[in-house]
Formats: sequence, C-alpha cells, structure tokens
Amino acid sequence: MIFAANFKMNHTRATTKAYLDVLAQKLVSKCSEDRVFIFPPATALDRYEGDFTIGVQNAYMAESGAYTGEIGLEQLEEFGIKTILIGHSERRDVLGEDQALVAEKFAYFKAQGFEIVYCIGEALEVREKGDEAVMAHLLSQFEGIDLSYEKLIIAYEPIWAIGTGRSATTEEISSTHASLKEHFDRPLLYGGSVKPENIKEITAIDGVDGVLVGSASLDVERFSEMIFA
Ligand code: G3P
Repeated sequence: MIFAANFKMNHTRATTKAYLDVLAQKLVSKCSEDRVFIFPPATALDRYEGDFTIGVQNAYMAESGAYTGEIGLEQLEEFGIKTILIGHSERRDVLGEDQALVAEKFAYFKAQGFEIVYCIGEALEVREKGDEAVMAHLLSQFEGIDLSYEKLIIAYEPIWAIGTGRSATTEEISSTHASLKEHFDRPLLYGGSVKPENIKEITAIDGVDGVLVGSASLDVERFSEMIFA
C-alpha cells in the first residue's frame, strides 16, 4: 500500500524536519511492502533520513534559467529529489495549468527518470452528470500522458472531495477505480478527505493501491495512524 502526504502550502522547514524526525522513528516498524511519500513545500526540500520518499509538489521543465518563481532540476538535484507530483487539481484550476502544460511537464520529468504521481479528478458538476461523463473527463486528463511509464503512479482525486471532509463513497471509489484500471496497469491511489476515520474502508476497496492525503497528513500522528491502521 502507498501512503502519500501532500502538505500543499503548509509547514515550514523547521516543522517539516520535526515531522519527519518523528515519522522516521515510527516507520522503523513499517510493513516493508508499504511505501510512504512526503511532498513538503519547496522551501522544506532536503535530504532527510527515513523510510520514506521526499517528492516535490511542482517544478518547471528545465535545468535552470530565467523562470521567475520556479524551481528546476538544478535545485532538485541538490537534495536528490527524483519524485514529483504532476496535474494536481489545484495546479490545474487555481494556478491555471492546462492539459498541454501538464503533459509537457510529464514528458520532461519522465525523460529525466522521475517517479511521477499523476493526479486526475472531476468537478462536482461533472460527477452529477453521471459515470459516463466522469470517465470521459478523467480519460481526457490522460491526453499526452504515457500510461505505460514504469515509474508512474496515478492518483484519482475527485475535486468535490478535496478538503471537504466528505470522501467519495466506497461505491464511487470502487466503480471509478475499476473503470480507470481498464486503461493502465499502474498503481492507482485515491485522494479526497482521506483520514484515520475512513482509511481502513478506503484501502480495503479493490483497485485502491494507496492514498494521497492532504489535510489529515499535516499532523504526523494522524498520518502515522493511517499508515499503521
Ligand atoms: O493531494 C491530496 C489532496 O488533494 C487531498 O486533500 O485535504 O482532501 O485530504 P484532502
């Protein structure tokens, strides 16, 4: 099972270090098949000791250069970062990353051999149109994406479940994951209000290979509770 924490724009360098020091201790007794990913804010990227993978939430498709406000390979290589989150709904909808840019980022970091957690998800108005509309939208988010890439992990995050405290239902997750898995043979995570109270139910669903957690990952005790549930 994969447990991924997306800190988004939360935590500082100091609180991330304190969090990871505690997590590293807890993970000593983790099941060896499980993988843990932490995506801290860019200012907290560093080489940390522990049985987890540190990934970057976003980066630009270049080694370095005149890209104000961005970070590129040069900054990531300093900390040995080779894992990246791409296509998160907040970067698509809040920060304006269209499918063309998301696919360009994917191709660039694939070429650099990065492990990629690639996010897809639909808005409530799409969900309300029914399963066919949902799948049509989700599949459109694979445009330009190599679904056979061996270092690809996909995360299905219904936008209407992100940050709301209300996850998708077992039936919604089960049917959407089953339909998605007809299109690729890669690990598929669920994200959207995952928390200790629903982790067992969600990870027991056939077709769920792990979770991508936002709010409930910000506290190391709650995130650890999910890993050891
Ligand atoms: O990337 C994970 C995130 O979008 C889910 O957020 O707060 O619903 O767990 P949250």
